[in-house]
Amino acid sequence: MTDRKVIAVVGATGAQGGGLVRAILNEPNGGFAARVLTRDVNSTKAKEFARLGAEVVAADIDNFESVKKAFEGAFGAYCVTFFWAHFSPEKEMAEAKTMAEAAKAARLRHVIWSTLEDTRKWVPLSDNRMPTLQGNYKVPHFDAKGESNHFFTDAGVPTTFLLTSFYWDNFIHFGMGPKKGPDGKLAITFPLGDKMMLGIAAEDIGKCAYGIFKRSDEFVGKTIAISGENLTGAQMATVFSVELGKEVRYNSVPPEVYRGFGFPGADDLGNMFQFKRDFEEYFCGRRKSDFSRDLNPSLQSFKMWLSRNKNAIPLEDA
Ligand SMILES: NC(=O)c1ccc[n+]([C@@H]2O[C@H](COP(=O)([O-])OP(=O)(O)OC[C@H]3O[C@@H](n4cnc5c(N)ncnc54)[C@H](OP(=O)(O)O)[C@@H]3O)[C@@H](O)[C@H]2O)c1
Repeated sequence: MTDRKVIAVVGATGAQGGGLVRAILNEPNGGFAARVLTRDVNSTKAKEFARLGAEVVAADIDNFESVKKAFEGAFGAYCVTFFWAHFSPEKEMAEAKTMAEAAKAARLRHVIWSTLEDTRKWVPLSDNRMPTLQGNYKVPHFDAKGESNHFFTDAGVPTTFLLTSFYWDNFIHFGMGPKKGPDGKLAITFPLGDKMMLGIAAEDIGKCAYGIFKRSDEFVGKTIAISGENLTGAQMATVFSVELGKEVRYNSVPPEVYRGFGFPGADDLGNMFQFKRDFEEYFCGRRKSDFSRDLNPSLQSFKMWLSRNKNAIPLEDA
């Protein structure tokens, strides 16, 4: 244990962090050990990780001292924030700052910061193609992450900035799976027109992060962008139809219609999809699945992911 590099994993009982912890545990001779950070060391997931050999420690990213203590003695940390738990970009930025300063205090040698683009560099607040949200943002859950990058550089923390992609797991957990339309047919709905959307299995983000820690010297100070596969809405619908054995259509709506769907965060996601639609060349060009596969040789395509996970997708009978 002592000669292994300890990686402290924020969000370890969640999607991104969980993938990283499992990647480390699955390679006992890989030279790394996983430290699970959780607010509840007695949860079922935390206990399961302890049973599998991870160190489990209590920490809350809203509490600097707890994060600093949890980072101490580690080689590195995986840092992620949880926008959808509170919908506040300011809170997200405060949490990123806490983790950056805790990483500095603990003298970590490599941090991966799970970030996204500050879309205001492409769509300034004065650009009315999409509404400004929460007073100061275009895509709050992107912008706050991008704006937070400087906390890590300001603190002088050796950081890899990891630009992630849309999780296909959103079809299971985020209510984005196929829904029955007025015509009685199943459809997936995105405001993307004929543009491509990057996607990835959430589990593969953690596996890519493990690949980055394994090649630490190469990636400190770099920005790395990952994706599993880039597909249009129509292509995703075709894969759904094949895998589910029933027709699934692609329903493209204008971003303003998506923003008006009324669920919490619909305006943020409507702007996010519009950003992906309007800057497809940048967004898809930046994230390369070949490079992601180099970091994570078991990177899944959408078809692979769907064939493994289709039974977990809540589906209305069509
Ligand atoms: N969905 C997507 O397509 C997508 C794509 C790219 C990026 N993202 C970003 O991913 C982030 C969320 O990551 P995720 O999906 O891996 O999260 P997740 O699956 O929702 O994981 C949440 C985990 O984080 C822990 N957590 C929550 N609040 C915490 C706190 N205050 N202190 C310490 N731990 C806390 C919880 O662990 P305990 O209960 O054990 O403490 C929980 O298990 C969001 O900011 C989102 O914007 C999402």
